[in-house]
Order: sequence, then structure tokens, then C-alpha cells
Amino acid sequence: MQKLFYPKKNMFKNPLIKNMCEYRDLVDEFDKDYEGTWAKFANEKIDWFKPYDQILDESNAPFYKWFTGGQMNVAHQCVDRHLETKKNKAAIIFEGDNGDQRILTYRELAYEVNKTANMFKNNFGVKKGDRVVIYMPMIPESAIVMLACAKIGAIHSVVFGGFSAEALRDRIIDAEAKLVVTADGAYRKGKPYMLKPVVDIALSSGCECVQNVCVVERNGENIEWIAGRDYSYNELIKEQSSKCQTEPMDSEDPLFLLYTSGSTGKPKGVQHSSAGYILWAQMTMEWVFDIQDNDTFWCTADVGWITGHTYIVYGPLAAGATTVMFEGVPTFPDAGRCWKMVEEYQINQFYTAPTAIRLLHKMGADEPTKYDLSSLRILGTVGEPIDPPAWKWYYEVVGNSNCSIVDTYWQTETGGHVISPLPVATPIKPACATFALPGIIAEVIESDGTPTEIGEKGLMCITKPWPAMIRTIWNNDERFIKSYFGDCKKEGKAIYFSGDGAMIDEDGYITITGRTDDVINVSGHRMGTAEVESAIKKHDNVASVAVVGKPHEIKGEGIFAYVVLKSVPTTQKDQTAEEFALAKEINAMIKTEIGAIALCDGMIFVSDLPKTRSGKVMRRILRSIAKGEKITQDISTLENPNIVKSIEKIFNS
Ligand code: WTA
Repeated sequence: MQKLFYPKKNMFKNPLIKNMCEYRDLVDEFDKDYEGTWAKFANEKIDWFKPYDQILDESNAPFYKWFTGGQMNVAHQCVDRHLETKKNKAAIIFEGDNGDQRILTYRELAYEVNKTANMFKNNFGVKKGDRVVIYMPMIPESAIVMLACAKIGAIHSVVFGGFSAEALRDRIIDAEAKLVVTADGAYRKGKPYMLKPVVDIALSSGCECVQNVCVVERNGENIEWIAGRDYSYNELIKEQSSKCQTEPMDSEDPLFLLYTSGSTGKPKGVQHSSAGYILWAQMTMEWVFDIQDNDTFWCTADVGWITGHTYIVYGPLAAGATTVMFEGVPTFPDAGRCWKMVEEYQINQFYTAPTAIRLLHKMGADEPTKYDLSSLRILGTVGEPIDPPAWKWYYEVVGNSNCSIVDTYWQTETGGHVISPLPVATPIKPACATFALPGIIAEVIESDGTPTEIGEKGLMCITKPWPAMIRTIWNNDERFIKSYFGDCKKEGKAIYFSGDGAMIDEDGYITITGRTDDVINVSGHRMGTAEVESAIKKHDNVASVAVVGKPHEIKGEGIFAYVVLKSVPTTQKDQTAEEFALAKEINAMIKTEIGAIALCDGMIFVSDLPKTRSGKVMRRILRSIAKGEKITQDISTLENPNIVKSIEKIFNS
């Protein structure tokens, strides 16, 4: 039997869920009265302007609605309502790449959010329901801008700063954004980098919807200003009033869109609601991170991903906590940077991705021992499966075998954690997400709804709607149904399928086994194979291509491409040189089309791809080859069975 790690209860003073009995009581409460229990929490946690009429409206499933008729506002929930009791508490502690610091109290945050909201209304004519694209670095203004949108009811769509101009343009056009908020640039590894020029390229064609660009000045580098379109945030902010009316929002009014990759086609704009989303963001902060009034919480994600939305900005602020925002990278100036910050700010909860843990382990296994990390109580991981060696180092060296590790499983679509240990209650098995949180009815099943046997892989489904779930894909209800409610049924009813596989062991513990579709998880970031393939196909000499995930020591999974060329070099000598040059060109293409995060870690040139008789590329075979596995499946039914041997030979050479 696998060893269990029990929480060190003396590390925790006043946790909300103290033991497994209390966990089970909560699960039972939801079991007995699902909607009533959600209502209890909604009443307790949300500062309603107008009470809701109905808890859950299932009349138009799977377009579920929660707390309909109710009115509230997420910026009020995260900022204004705290002013009475936490006016001078630090809301955001910012540390820049080069070590500069800035602390915003709740009062200062409210002041900045109000001024920014007024600027959006007065200078850019942003109204309730308008879309604002945010392409920003990790500076406090990113959170301020998100909250300013929430304050006036505008829908924000944050685009990760590592995405290219093309990727940014696609997202601007799909969301039909009126305003783009960006920065001149920021700093990384001691050097300035630029963002505004990327916006300029993105807007150079096809973005007629965009009327203005608002530029926050961060690094002061030279940028171009287009008269009448581009305005300086730092200038406009000076003229704004610090009083701003809060827009009453219906529970179901969209709070934000966040684009994420699927297995096919273009990224999809995952749409989240106001009340249900913020309720769960706040509840999971309390349950999973045991957030206490005096805590300092640090999530190292970027605001461009869902983890940054829910656990840098919305969750911590809704809970009235102090959240740390870091502009730089964990390895600059050295691999002790994070631990130095933990010591300096006395961080109590540290939340990061397994990729970062593996990197920090590799680059500085002893670094944590050089700092006082005794403030830490909870260490979190997210985004990808964590491997046992990384887990062990995190637990023993970073946590000094005292901290609880919460391996949190969730997705852009789930809004917040869905399967995770509770830090004070759950006995932990390393690298295991353990149990569904109370209120989340998670099941591992076959596609027809039959539960899988103990220890067998099945599909990770959530069988009841929950308040923080995705509402739809922006402008594409059909794709929403097909992507999430098309594969699995229970008792004849379509249920939410996450796209992940999972396994339940003899003790009821759930382990996530990874994606079952063609999504690759690179450094905890979702990459659609279709997106990468369509970028590669733009190269003139590419006839066809298939990309798959390949295990990678640091990134978890890397991207591996099998490329079929239109014209093949003839001599062996030419071939090596030409293929090298082509691989470089293809990667440059990917960088332009998507961004550096989608670069291929490996690429081979093959004469054909293995296909079924109906012409479907057999990705499973290509995945096995990339993993160095033996091909055990029957390949005789392929249209071109001989190609498998030939690809294996090239791969191994
Ligand atoms: C994967 C990130 C294993 C999973 C919050 C999921 C995980 C995808 C874990 C969502 C975990 C996330 N263990 N796998 N603890 N957490 N994943 O939308 O494949 O960027 O579907 O949200 O990451 O990625 P997303």
C-alpha cells in the first residue's frame, strides 16, 4: 500500500475543514440538499445587492444558470466591501524582476480601480458588456485593469503576454474587443522586453473592432504612438475621479473570457459568469489554501492563464487576503529567487506548477536550505501531473516535511479547483489529487456512465452542474455542447467531460492520468495539436504534419513534430543541412503564429504519416514512437503499414 502523509495539524490554527469527518459531513450536506447547500454558501459569502430568485436553473441544460435574479459586482466583492475592515491591509504585494517593490493596500487598490474604471468609461466609451482585451505583463495594473472592467461590467479577455501578434489578433477578433490595454513592455531576467509593438502588429489588419489602445508605461522603452488610437494610461489616470459607480451585475452576466486550446480548431473563448465564479474562487481559497487574515499568499502563475485569474487576482482578493505578484522568473538572478521572496515576505502558501518545481530542483536542489522558509504551511501544485521525485523534493526540502502539499486538479473551464486535498484534513498520497471537493460531484466512468473498476483508467467527469463552471464558448454554443457535453452520458443525460483520464484506487483516491484528447500539456500550459500543426503548415515546403507530446524532463511534455515535405533534399549531405535549416524556419513560423511557448522540442522529416484507410492520421502510433515505446497495436489495417518501421528508423537514428 502506498504511504500516506498526514497533515501536521500543529501547523494550522483555525482551519475551516479540520478533519475527514468534517469533510464527509460537508459532502453529505451537498448530497442531501445540493442546491440548498450551494445557496447557504452563496448567502454567506457574497455581498448581494439584490437577492437571487432561483438557485439553479436547469431548464436549458447544459446552459446552466446559477443564482438568477440576483445582483452583485465582482469588483465590489473583491475590493470595496473590504474597505470597512481592511482599508490599510496589503491587497497586492508586487515585486519586479529587478527587485523593485510596490504594495497596494485595499484602499489604494480601490482608488486605482475606480480611476481606471472612470478612464475606461470617459475616455474610451467602454460600457457594460463591451469586451476589453488585456495584453499585459505581471504588474499590479493588470489586476487593476481586470477589476476596473468588473466594476463597470465590461468583459475582459486577458491574453498571455507570451502569445504572438497573430495569436493576439485571433483573440481580439473573436471577442470583438473595443479596447486593448497593454504596456510598453516589462522586464525579464534583468532586461526590458516589449509588448506594445506586438499589439501594433496584431492591429495592423482585421481588427476594425478596436477603437483604442491604452498603454501602461512600465519599462519606458521607445514605442510608437498612433494619434487618436493610442493613449497613455499614466497620463489619463491623472485626470480621473476616484469615485466610481459600481455597476450592479446579474449573477449570470459574463465576467470574463479566457481563450484556451482544444483538440481541434482555433482556441475557444471560455466564458465565465460573475456570481458563481467568484463564489467558488473565494470558497476554494478558504478550503484549499486555508487562507487566514494575516497570511501572505503567493501564486507564481501569470495572469494570462486561469490560475492567475482565480488565484492571483479574484480568489485572494474576494477572500480579503494579501496576494503576491511577481514580474520575473524563478531562476533570476539565481535559483534561490523564490525562496528568498518566501523568506522576505513570510509567504504562508506557495502555489506553482510542477514544471517550475522540476526546474528549481534541477538548478538548485539545496537552495531552499539557505533561506528561512518556516512561514510556509501549504505548498500547492497545478496544471499537470507532478512526478514523485519532484513531489518528494517539494515536500522534504522546500516544505521541510512540515507543509501540506495540495495537488490541485482543475481547468480553465472549471473556474477553480475541483479535485484537491484539503490541507488540514486529507491524508495525502504523493502525486495524487485525492478527492473531489465538497459540492463537486466527480466520477470516473466509461462514456456510457458505467463507473470504472478500481485501478482502471476512465474518463474524468463532473456529473452535476456547479456554480463556477464554464457557461459557454464565446459566440459558439454549439462548440460548447460538442466539446464538453458530447462524449459522456449518465442515465441518459449529457454530463461534463473534462478531456482528462483518471483512476480511482482501492481507498477512493483519484489520480489524474492526463489528457485523453489531442491536447499537449507543455509546462502546464495547454497546447492544441491542431493549432501547432496549422502554424507549421503555413511553411511553403510542408506537405503535411502531425504533432504529438513527448515526455520532457522539465516541461513534463514537449512538442514533437513529424513533418512531410513537398520537396525533399536529394543527397545525404544536403539533407542534414537542409533539414536543420528547415526545422529552424518552421520553429520561426510557430513563434510568429503562436508564440515561443509552442516551439517544437523535436522534429523529424518523414516521407509519410501512418494513416487509416479513411485517411485519418494515427496519432497514437506517433505518440508511442515519440515516447520510445514498442508499437504493440495491430498496424496491418493501416493504409501504409510500412511507414511505421521507416519512421521508427528515422526517429532512432
Ligand atoms: C491538467 C489549469 C494533473 C489537466 C488550472 C487539465 C492537471 C489541464 C492538474 C487544464 C493536476 C491541471 N494534475 N493534471 N493537478 N491540474 N491539469 O485549463 O490535463 O490551463 O485538463 O487549467 O491541465 O489546464 P488549464
